[in-house]
Order: sequence, then structure tokens, then C-alpha cells
Amino acid sequence: MRRISLSRYLIEEQRERGKINADLRLLIEVVARACKGIAIAIGKGAIAENGGVLGEAGSDNVQGEAQKKLDVLSNEILLEANEWGGHLAGMASEEMELPHAIPNRYPQGEYLLLFDPLDGSSNIDINAPVGTIFSVLRCPEGADPSQNEAFMQPGTEQVAAGYTVYGPTTQLILTVGDGVASFTLDRECGSFILTQENLQIPADTKEFAINMSNMRHWEAPIKHYIDDLLSGSTGPRGKDFNMRWVAAMVADVHRIMTRGGIFLYPIDAKTQSKGGKLRLMYEANPMAFIVEQAGGAATTGTQRIMEIQPTGVHQRVPVVLGSRNEVAVVASYYGKS
Ligand code: F6P
Repeated sequence: MRRISLSRYLIEEQRERGKINADLRLLIEVVARACKGIAIAIGKGAIAENGGVLGEAGSDNVQGEAQKKLDVLSNEILLEANEWGGHLAGMASEEMELPHAIPNRYPQGEYLLLFDPLDGSSNIDINAPVGTIFSVLRCPEGADPSQNEAFMQPGTEQVAAGYTVYGPTTQLILTVGDGVASFTLDRECGSFILTQENLQIPADTKEFAINMSNMRHWEAPIKHYIDDLLSGSTGPRGKDFNMRWVAAMVADVHRIMTRGGIFLYPIDAKTQSKGGKLRLMYEANPMAFIVEQAGGAATTGTQRIMEIQPTGVHQRVPVVLGSRNEVAVVASYYGKS
């Protein structure tokens, strides 16, 4: 079998397809290298030095959520790896209140990197999948990368996005706006190897993912939609649906990238004041870019996610994404109410 490494894939995207420049190639390689470091740290679990990497860090992030040791460590790995290469102007992370500009002692690049260093971190202690999500924007001419304003660009401005899922295998899913490719980490040689190109999400599905325990808090269109799915073949949808919920967005989206489905984290009475649960800039936007590049769709229910004009780095939004015909069905329930 001809093995194509991530490095070679990126060189071909640059040289043959002209989709990326050398700096963006370097940026993606550096993020991938950091993800390998995170995969190694996760893999050590309770036997890592100094008491292991599982458990609470004893601190809260900007959103008031308790940080796990691995949240903090993954954030540090990504920051350290990306600081000195000269490809970035700044970074923003779920784990940091304010953007991190590249220190003056290093050259400044033209890109901004946003990330959720360890998505689904409540899965760590039960040895279930977690992930890293990232999004890349250009730093606008003259903008200050230590300020939120530099990052306030809609998802349509993303030049690359990806996620790494740390499951039984470590997989990196990447788009540079030229379709979606999937790479599997070869742990023996330490390289990400291309394992699938041109991923396509089936347009139709019979599988949905939602936290059903929030049902009593949902708004009417989502309640009606899920009621109709649950009525199965004798209900208005005329077919039986299956449900899955890994409780890590990366893993739930990865299932959809693999076999189709619909993922919903709608706004509900509990998250109304915050605008939703999932973060626009480093969760919803990169996933929307990837899903759209694979032929799927991503909406809040009433608006295409990638067209939202952001107002804050940690802004939250409702998310409905996956198989495009099913996403359109959800949007039609909003149209009816
Ligand atoms: O980032 C938030 C997150 O952990 C997502 O990865 C996941 O989809 C969701 O929250 C899980 O939410 P809940 O705790 O409601 O199951």
C-alpha cells in the first residue's frame, strides 16, 4: 500500500493543487505534532509521572467550568508548539480568557489559530474518546492579535479547520477548503498517514445525537422534531431512528463523518442566557466547515453557522449539523413555528 504522510499530503496541497502556502502548511504540521503530544499524554493516563494526568486541575476556565489536568496540559502543549515557528500572529483557546499574541521575541506570521485543546474532557476519567478542535483564520491587516477584535470573523473566513479524535486510534480530520481528508496516527513511526480522502457525509440518515435529558428545557421546534423521530415508522417521518450520544462533540461528529447522522445541541432554557452550550469560534465553526466540505450542513436552526458574525471569542451558539437533508428537516421545524 502506498503510504502518504500528512507532510506529503500538505506539500501536494501546496505545490500541486495550490490550496495552501508554506506558512499554512507549517501551521497544520505543528498543530498535528502538538496533537501527537496530547495523544501521548492521554495514553499515559494514571501512570504518567508526578501522579498521572487524570483528574481535576483545581482551577476553572473563563466559562466557570472545572478544568481537568489534561485540559491545562493540552492547552500548554498547543501554545508551546505554535509560539515560535513564525507562522502565527496569535492564538485563542477555550482555556484562556484573552487571546495570546505571539511574543515579540519570535517572528510574527499572518494566521490566527483558535482551539478547544481537549473537547469532551469529562470523558477522560472514564477512558472514553476526547478530541482537539482547531480553526485557522487570517489576521486582518493592522489588527492587534492580542485583542478579541482580530478574531471576530465569520466561519466563512476560515482557511483551515480540523479535529483530532483520541479513541482506539488517533485520527486527524482536516480541511483546507479542498474537501476533507482523514489521517490515522501510526504510533510506531509517529506519523499521521492518509487513510481517507474526500470524505462524504450521506445526505440522509436514521441516526441522531442529542442529550435527551435536556428535553424539558428545549424550545418547541426541537421538541416537535425529536417527538417525530421517536414515533418511528408509524409517525410522520415514516422510519425508525437510532440514537447515540458520546458526550464529546468530536466523537459524535466523527461518527457522522463516518456514517452520517445528525448532531444537535440546541439552545434550551438552561443555556438561554448564554446563547447556547457550544462555542462558535473553536467548536461550531471548525466543525461546520468540515461538515460542509464533506457535503453536510450546519445551522443554528435558523441561520447557517458559518455566516454568524461573531461578537466574542467565547460566544456560544445552538448547533444542528450533519446529513444535509436531515439538517434541512430541522430547519423546516423552525420555519413552521
Ligand atoms: O464542549 C462541550 C461538550 O463537552 C461537547 O464536547 C459535548 O458535545 C457536550 O459538551 C456534552 O454536553 P452534555 O454534558 O450536555 O452531555
